[in-house]
Amino acid sequence: MRKMPATGARPAGAVDEADAAVAVRQMFDSIAPRYDLLNHVLSANVDRLWWRRAARRFAAVLERPEAAILDICCGTGDLTMALLKLRPHGATPILAGDFSPAMLRRGAEKFGPSGTRGSKEGAPYAVAIEADALHLPLRAESLDLIVTAFGFRNLANYEAGLKEFYRTLKPGGQLGILEFSEPGGVLGKAYGVYFRRVLPAIGRMICGRDGAYNYLPTSVGNFPPPGAMVEMMQRAGFEKCAWQPYTFGIAGLYSATRPDLGVR
Ligand SMILES: C[S@@+](CC[C@H](N)C(=O)[O-])C[C@H]1O[C@@H](n2cnc3c(N)ncnc32)[C@H](O)[C@@H]1O
Repeated sequence: MRKMPATGARPAGAVDEADAAVAVRQMFDSIAPRYDLLNHVLSANVDRLWWRRAARRFAAVLERPEAAILDICCGTGDLTMALLKLRPHGATPILAGDFSPAMLRRGAEKFGPSGTRGSKEGAPYAVAIEADALHLPLRAESLDLIVTAFGFRNLANYEAGLKEFYRTLKPGGQLGILEFSEPGGVLGKAYGVYFRRVLPAIGRMICGRDGAYNYLPTSVGNFPPPGAMVEMMQRAGFEKCAWQPYTFGIAGLYSATRPDLGVR
């Protein structure tokens, strides 16, 4: 029987969207101090390549100094840092948003105006905003680019997330969603064992808690497969919707554009 695509994240015990959002925020707040270490150990640093590759995909927008850019679900800011590398000197600051204060604080230490990059005169930096991806505190049609890495899967309602991205993007604005996926074949089977057994055990060892790294494989398993996700983006009104697999499809970048229907 064909698996029904999930409509949004549902951590264990969450009965509705509001519950799910609270559980996800509390979980990231609790693992924030160990998040970077865990990520790099669990992915053997391949995540760095993914962030850089995703950033390069949007180089044409990033190179425009006036472009308005949002990295939502920015967490501890590693995608934001990859985006900043492609911003020119003196560029408009990137907006980096997350609803977990503990994750965002760590991110701001890297990408903020007095962080590891921004402290140099004229060096591009990002502004941290505590924000829920489903209710962005931003005007309609105000952004040239929205990107998000490994956060979309955690939204309590995927369609509402895409609707909010569509609302805040300018006509012609671009969207990039970097997410895990489950590869097929033999590799998929081996990866499944790593993801469901090894990864939660290492997570438990480093973090000293159970929930978060049990939640990771479950949330990836429940996330719509690439074809269904691309269809969801099309239904939300986006055009040029595509999925580019990274590292044999363990992760991948969804990209889309808000149509520009303006009369020229
Ligand atoms: C797995 S982390 C990814 C962080 C970072 N982008 C990275 O690539 O390492 C997911 C992040 O999404 C954030 N998040 C989840 N749901 C959110 C929502 N509805 N609004 C804002 N942030 C959210 C979490 O707080 C967490 O920091």
